[in-house]
Amino acid sequence: MSIPGIKKAIIPAAGMGTRFLPATKVIPKELIPIVEKPAIQYIVEEAISAGVEEIVFVISRDKEKVVDHFRPQTEMEAFLKTKGDRANLQAITELNNKVRYTVVYQDKPLGLGHAVWCAREAVKDDWFFVFLPDDLIDHEVPCAVQMIRSWEAHAGATVAVMEVPWERVSQYGVVKALPITESLGKMETVVEKPKREEAPSNLAIIGRYLLPSMIFSLLEKVKPGAIGEIQLTDAILGLIKSEGVYAYQFEGEHFDVGNKLGFLGANIHFGIQHPDLGPQVSELVKLFAESR
Ligand code: UTP
Repeated sequence: MSIPGIKKAIIPAAGMGTRFLPATKVIPKELIPIVEKPAIQYIVEEAISAGVEEIVFVISRDKEKVVDHFRPQTEMEAFLKTKGDRANLQAITELNNKVRYTVVYQDKPLGLGHAVWCAREAVKDDWFFVFLPDDLIDHEVPCAVQMIRSWEAHAGATVAVMEVPWERVSQYGVVKALPITESLGKMETVVEKPKREEAPSNLAIIGRYLLPSMIFSLLEKVKPGAIGEIQLTDAILGLIKSEGVYAYQFEGEHFDVGNKLGFLGANIHFGIQHPDLGPQVSELVKLFAESR
């Protein structure tokens, strides 16, 4: 399933999470659970399913807890062993050895592009994924696996895109792409957070990127753009002009868990799918709908 060469994934998690205050005053937003698993664990599991062997977390100094979640917790493990609680022991150890975790620091939240650039020495000359931990995508074939399959047919930098309502285009990087197949297009341009009337389409980039290491030299040259941040989109624009970039329209349901509504939606969605809780969550949702 995996391609030699795409063994690394960057997960930028150094942002401030202001859309989720006051919860994120102390708790990193990536650790807020969707049902019983922190959002970022869904992302790490997706990366592993696509054959990733090393995760590079980009964090700020006060978000070390994000990485702690993936480190062995020996006291808790010993406690669960004594109690014979195999289910929970399995739950807290299953990701310990499946992938290597590397940490790099972004000392100031200068933007997503800058966060990715901070990981350049960990990634070196390899192709790599970027996963945004806010964007959960649910499908029987994980989005990253879909992207690998697309890469096998059309090798090259690839970003995941989906159609969004026109009134929301200003929240995204929006692409214009020349269709190649039903789900794949060759990008002609991308605009970060355009006004609705200036958006080239309603196809928005959603938190998954498959990139070559040359993006780092493009990021070096990027000046702060939309909302004063160093945008990954601006470097992708450079890549469109040099190597070319594909836009891949993935299959699956998307939740932006970095905002309150998306977070609630994800909890209901994954709650309904939960092997133990599913029927009760469905019943709860039905009862709420009927009583309001
Ligand atoms: P967001 O802009 O969605 O995250 O960035 P944020 O800044 O944490 O959220 P708000 O807007 O204040 O609520 C997308 C991803 O990029 C990371 C964030 O952690 C998030 O996972 N990011 C963003 C960084 O790592 N560094 C940055 O400078 C900016």
